[in-house]
Amino acid sequence: MAVVNTNEMLADARLKHYAVGAFNIENMEFVQAVIWAAEEMHSPVILQTSVNTLKYATPEMFISMVRTCADTVKVPIAIHLDHGSTLFNIMSCVKAGYKSVMFDGSLLSYEKNVEQTRLVVELCKQIDVSVEAELGAISGKEGAPEESSSLYTDPEVATDFVNRTGVDSLAVSIGSVHGLYKTAPNLDYKRLSEIKSRIEAPLVLHGASGLSIDQIRECIARGITKVNIATELRCAWSDAARQYMANNPNVFDPKKASKLAREAVMNVVKEKILMLGSNSMV
Ligand code: G3H
Ligand code: ZN
Repeated sequence: MAVVNTNEMLADARLKHYAVGAFNIENMEFVQAVIWAAEEMHSPVILQTSVNTLKYATPEMFISMVRTCADTVKVPIAIHLDHGSTLFNIMSCVKAGYKSVMFDGSLLSYEKNVEQTRLVVELCKQIDVSVEAELGAISGKEGAPEESSSLYTDPEVATDFVNRTGVDSLAVSIGSVHGLYKTAPNLDYKRLSEIKSRIEAPLVLHGASGLSIDQIRECIARGITKVNIATELRCAWSDAARQYMANNPNVFDPKKASKLAREAVMNVVKEKILMLGSNSMV
């Protein structure tokens, strides 16, 4: 199936009360693991690349792998830029053929975030590219502030932001954190429900690695329709590869460890798809 943008996928998820997993990919084996897991589970899926990952290989390289693999399956597949923070990040992915991008202006002043997000939306609308934006700040990422409820998304400001920018989806800050949790995650569900009651656009949960099934399902019940997962996939890959190399110090075929690592990533993706309720949706 051809690679699609994320609007239709998220509209269906919103309507049927499930969430689509957005899995960060790092290399060819991650692409295969995510797409094969989605096909096996009959689930739509989003593959996303961070700006750091795009320093490791180009958007052209990633979209070619995703398209080639997507052509072998029947489920809808999207490729999305995760946490783009400059117009250059956005344009290099759009030029390569991405149909979905995130503009993350969360470290800018509110007015600058509105202004730059609106500009990205204006450019992307003309070429059928979906735009996700972030309001409030989600910590744990390089350059992001420390976790604090003062950074959480304000429902009233979020309404103004969506109305003024016209974004297709909104990443909200409600207590989830990128990377490994240092203390038990405590999510502000009331705030999420309040945002959802005011905003039509699909809502996105970042930092979902380490959240329990109950926490994820509560977020979905209260309006989350896209769930971002990166760290747990990286850990699955690294643990499997590390263990294989330690047990087989004389093997020098990289495919041996990569194959096991790919299987480990695929298992996590399948588990998350079940958690999100997106299985058997296509
Ligand atoms: O944008 C990516 C995500 O928010 C992933 O967060 O690494 O905590 O799973 P995570
Ligand atoms: Zn994120």
